[in-house]
Amino acid sequence: MAGASASAAGAALLGRSGQLRSAGSASATAPSRLRSSGGRLDLDLVAQETEVAIPGGPARALTYNGLLPGPLLEIDPGDAVRINLHNRLPRPTNIHYHGLHIPPGGSGDNVFLSVGPGESHSYAFTLPADHPAGTFYYHPHSHGTVADQVFGGLGGVLIVRGALDRIPAVRAAAEQVLFLKDLPAERGSSPMGMGLMLGREGAVLTVNGQVNPTLSMPAGGLLRLRIVNGSSARFWRLALEEHPFHLIATDGGALEAPVELVELLLAPGERAEVLVRGERQGGRYRLLNLPYTRGAGGMMGGMGMGSGPGQQGPVSIATLAYAGSVAPLPLPERLLPVELLPEPVRRRRFVLNHGMAPGMGMVFLINGRPFDHGRIDTRVRLGDTEEWELVNDGVMDHPFHVHINPFQVISRNGKPEPFRAWKDVVLLRPGETVRIRTRFDDFAGRSVYHCHILDHEELGMMGILEITA
Ligand code: C2O
Ligand code: CU
Ligand code: CU
Repeated sequence: MAGASASAAGAALLGRSGQLRSAGSASATAPSRLRSSGGRLDLDLVAQETEVAIPGGPARALTYNGLLPGPLLEIDPGDAVRINLHNRLPRPTNIHYHGLHIPPGGSGDNVFLSVGPGESHSYAFTLPADHPAGTFYYHPHSHGTVADQVFGGLGGVLIVRGALDRIPAVRAAAEQVLFLKDLPAERGSSPMGMGLMLGREGAVLTVNGQVNPTLSMPAGGLLRLRIVNGSSARFWRLALEEHPFHLIATDGGALEAPVELVELLLAPGERAEVLVRGERQGGRYRLLNLPYTRGAGGMMGGMGMGSGPGQQGPVSIATLAYAGSVAPLPLPERLLPVELLPEPVRRRRFVLNHGMAPGMGMVFLINGRPFDHGRIDTRVRLGDTEEWELVNDGVMDHPFHVHINPFQVISRNGKPEPFRAWKDVVLLRPGETVRIRTRFDDFAGRSVYHCHILDHEELGMMGILEITA
């Protein structure tokens, strides 16, 4: 797109989003929403630095269309999506559609494509007609600027509607998106050295760009939370006072039946959908982020890592307030079948670790090698089912992520997973071995797998996957 029309489109959107932003901070806690209609979603996304109003947070952040988080995109299977990305940042950027099963080449989910400062690119893809419903995540993915740009604020939620939404007990629930992002404090210093190696965390915890927003629900009601960890390194370990979570979907969509959880841990890039029952009579309950340590216990000479600057105990990130009451709504008993994948035709092993490289300091490695954009690390065949053994040989947590095709976790440290679920990020704690199974369906092309602590990805923990027909 030409510069003139790009800036006109941007200006029009900015006017609109400015209003949306002030409306949002006054009351609601939902990101501004763009819904496809007539089988199409067409929009402009302007990546730029803008002023933001976040108590205790930075005065400026990186935003899409002036919004933090970016607009909430909502589409149906079969929809044609066109996104005109305009880069008003000083460094290259692009867009990755985290979790979507769409072509990895051309103007689809192409992370090798780079949009330079002042340039625009028109992304276009058609979501497969059988794409599962779920909660997905768009964010920049241009190697070398990913961690800075995600930590700086960029990212947004993409909802695919479908069968899960049509289950009566799910449809009856009130829906709320929670986009979780930590931001640096107003006077935070920029991290260097070890901070960067371990993965930057900000001290200001935001939900949909707000600090401790209020969510409301009636007694007897059901609240469906679509939770996205949009942080570059922070893990969110959530618990809601006096209310269990009923997990109904993971990264790639629905489970077979709800699973009750007392707390929910989400590594960067992970998503979960949970139902909360309004089983109390009234009152206010805190949604807490509990402290979490991302390994590396002995490495830092006692300096804590994970849970970010200063988080020693639970922090309230949102408040659930009861308002009114309704006749009690039941939880769904069954959700959707989760396919049992066939026996793998091939097994591979990926060892995650770190080391020192001359002149580079610490590097993060997969099978002993740091990322090289000119090297294809893993070649697979379209249609094959494979089983990958992932081994964390290091001293820090690494959430392993694969693009384009979701996977199922088969076992962790030799113990079978308790239930089948579609995932695209799986956490490996130090010393753990996890087996995942995946099938390379529909799309040939080149993509990546990497650690979703984005500072680790930038420092080498990524490989290139080529799927050939
Ligand atoms: Cu959300 Cu390659 O990442
Ligand atoms: Cu991804
Ligand atoms: Cu990592």
